[in-house]
Amino acid sequence: MNILVTGGAGFIGSHTVVELIAAGFEPIILDDFSNSDPKVLDRLESILGRKVKSYSANCNDADLLTKIFREEQIQGVIHFAASKAVGESVERPLLYYRNNISALVTLLEAMTANGISNLVFSSSCTVYGQPEIIPVTEETPVLPAASPYGNTKQVGEEIIRDTVAAKPGLKALALRYFNPVGAHESALIGELPIGVPANLVPYVTQTAIGIRSKLMVFGKDYATPDGTCIRDFIHVVDLAKAHVKALELLVKQNDANYYDYFNIGTGTGTSVQELIDTFERVTGVKVNYEFAPRRAGDIMEIYAEVSKSRDLLGWQAEKTLDEALADAWRWQQRLAN
Ligand code: WQD
Repeated sequence: MNILVTGGAGFIGSHTVVELIAAGFEPIILDDFSNSDPKVLDRLESILGRKVKSYSANCNDADLLTKIFREEQIQGVIHFAASKAVGESVERPLLYYRNNISALVTLLEAMTANGISNLVFSSSCTVYGQPEIIPVTEETPVLPAASPYGNTKQVGEEIIRDTVAAKPGLKALALRYFNPVGAHESALIGELPIGVPANLVPYVTQTAIGIRSKLMVFGKDYATPDGTCIRDFIHVVDLAKAHVKALELLVKQNDANYYDYFNIGTGTGTSVQELIDTFERVTGVKVNYEFAPRRAGDIMEIYAEVSKSRDLLGWQAEKTLDEALADAWRWQQRLAN
C-alpha cells in the first residue's frame, strides 16, 4: 500500500519511513526541505538498502498533490509537514497558520477529491496546556492553546474531525505526541535542529560535545520533586512505530467516517534534572549546565496515560530513556564527524 509521508525527511517522518517499509508499506516522501536536510534521503537509502521515492514540494500545492495521488496510486497519508517551534510561532503566527492550517485544508481537499480515505495526523500533547490532572488521558479537556503552534494542532484536529463528519469517506487518526527524543540505532538519522536548538535533548547533546558552552535549565522553582519541569520523553522509533499501528488500524476500519485520537507517550514522567543525570550516567559525559529563570510558555508537568493506545492501537513504548539518550549521543557524535 502506497503511503504519502508529508514532512518525510524530518525527524519523526524519516524514522516513520523506516518503520513503514519494515511493516510492508511503500512510503513516498513529500518534503519542501524548509526544516529538513535532503541528505536524509541518502541516509535512508543506506539504512534501507533501497531508495525511497520523494517529491521536493509542500502541501499548499493542490495540483501537485492531485498529480502525486494519481501517479503514485496513494491510498493513505501520514501528515507530518508543519512548523513546530513554539517560540517562533509566537513571533510569526501567520507563518504557522499558513504552514499548519492552510496546507492541511489543501491536503484534505485534495484527498477527498481523489478518494484517498486514510489520514494519520501529527498532533501534540500541547493541546492539553497545563492539565489539572496528571497523567493525561485522551479525555482530559483540551485547554486554550498557550501558543499559535499549539493552536494549530487543536484547530487541525477540529478541521479533520469536522471533515470526517461530513462523510466524504475519510477515516482519520490524530496522534498526540509527547516529547520525541533519541535517534535511529544506525546513527544515520536523528534530530537535526537548524540553528540553536529549542528542545532540551539536542541542546544537551550539543553542550556535551562542545558545540554549546552551557545548558540553561529553565526553572528550578517549580512545585515538582526536584524543582524542574516534568515531561514524557518518548523514543522517536517508538513514536514512528505508533504511526504504523495507526495506519493498520485505519485500513481495517469499515466505518468510512471514522475519527479518533491517541496519546503517544511512555506513560512515565521524567524531570529535566533526571534527564540530565540519566544522560551523564549513560554516556559518562558531564553536561555543563546552570539553572536559569523559567521559560515563558512552559508548563510545569505533563505525561501520558497510555491505556487507550495500548488497548485500541495495540501499541506501547518499548524503549527506555537510557536507550534514547544513548542513541541521541551516538547520533550527535556522528554529526560531529
Ligand atoms: C522540555 C523541557 C524546558 C531547552 C516540545 C515541543 C512541542 C511538543 C512537545 C511535539 C522544558 C526545558 C528546554 C533548554 C531547558 N512536541 N528546557 N533548557 O517545550 O516540552 O515541547 O515537546 O508536538 O512541539 O516544543 O519541549 O524540549 O523545548 O522543553 O531547561 O535549553 O526542557 O523548559 O521544561 P517542550 P522542550
